[in-house]
Amino acid sequence: MTDKFLQEFAREVDEGLSDTPKRLSSKYFYDEKGDQLFVKIMGMPEYYLTRSEFQIFSEQTDDLIKAFGVKPGENFDLYELGAGDGTKTIELLKGLKGYQFTYKPIDISEHAIATLQKRISKELPDVAVEGKQGEYFQVLSSLASETPKVILFMGSNIGNMLDDVANSFLRQLSASMNTGDKLLIGVDLKKPASVILPAYNDAQGYTREFNLNLLDRINRELGGDFDRSKFEHAPRYDEETGLAESYVESTEGQSVKIKTLDREFKFEKGEKIFVEISRKYDDATIEAIAKNTEFEIVERFYDRDKLFSDIVFEKAG
Ligand code: AVJ
Repeated sequence: MTDKFLQEFAREVDEGLSDTPKRLSSKYFYDEKGDQLFVKIMGMPEYYLTRSEFQIFSEQTDDLIKAFGVKPGENFDLYELGAGDGTKTIELLKGLKGYQFTYKPIDISEHAIATLQKRISKELPDVAVEGKQGEYFQVLSSLASETPKVILFMGSNIGNMLDDVANSFLRQLSASMNTGDKLLIGVDLKKPASVILPAYNDAQGYTREFNLNLLDRINRELGGDFDRSKFEHAPRYDEETGLAESYVESTEGQSVKIKTLDREFKFEKGEKIFVEISRKYDDATIEAIAKNTEFEIVERFYDRDKLFSDIVFEKAG
């Protein structure tokens, strides 16, 4: 980890654990261990999101490409925000055989980017790849160029942002795009808690591990002494609002020292740290986050069971 990243991590942990209620950012889930656990989660039967979006990308590839408006022989950049392991995107890349483009995956995890680059050069040696490590808001400036763009923001990654943050992100994104550029956003759709909750609490326990790994990461990188046997994974879902939230709950009164911060944090029994929001969408919320962005919907794609949707927007005017 770079010093700058570590400093930012330390600052955010200090701020978050000093707040009431306590909170930590889900963007820090993704160290090497977290990347591996997330790949496991994506393979779990309960975690339908990945399967549903994979179905869209593998069965409607040509229609997606049509909606992007790209033509063989016309150069473009294919960006992907939060690329992860690239399994779904590879379906699209295969469909783009014969097209002239550079694939530019961006991910907060250095490890994920390195692994993805290797994978693409092995499985699709003809595809030009330029990976980059970075956070969504930080990479916006690097997007500005005259080259036509297609930007992928898949996996319902946008659901990690509260609606006003998502809206401000999309407004900034549209400001760094040119007229005619396309943006694909993958969104998980609102559905009963009986389907959502197991997706965030798989029977194998990978999601639990994934969430508690954040405590381990603080121990490893910031010299914390979290005892994970005294914390529990606690997911929630509100069908009305469509907000799925994950908490890490202290199972007893305790205090935790973090060396790098030179601080001690007290927890009451049952006290919760808010660690992740995974928003579920409907037409109204999609409209709300795209408000005042200059984005117009070109086409909406669904998996066969309509659990998930990929929406292709065009930057107008
Ligand atoms: C990668 C943010 C889309 O919120 O569904 C999976 C992360 N967290 N299980 C999601 C996650 C717990 C995931 N996103």
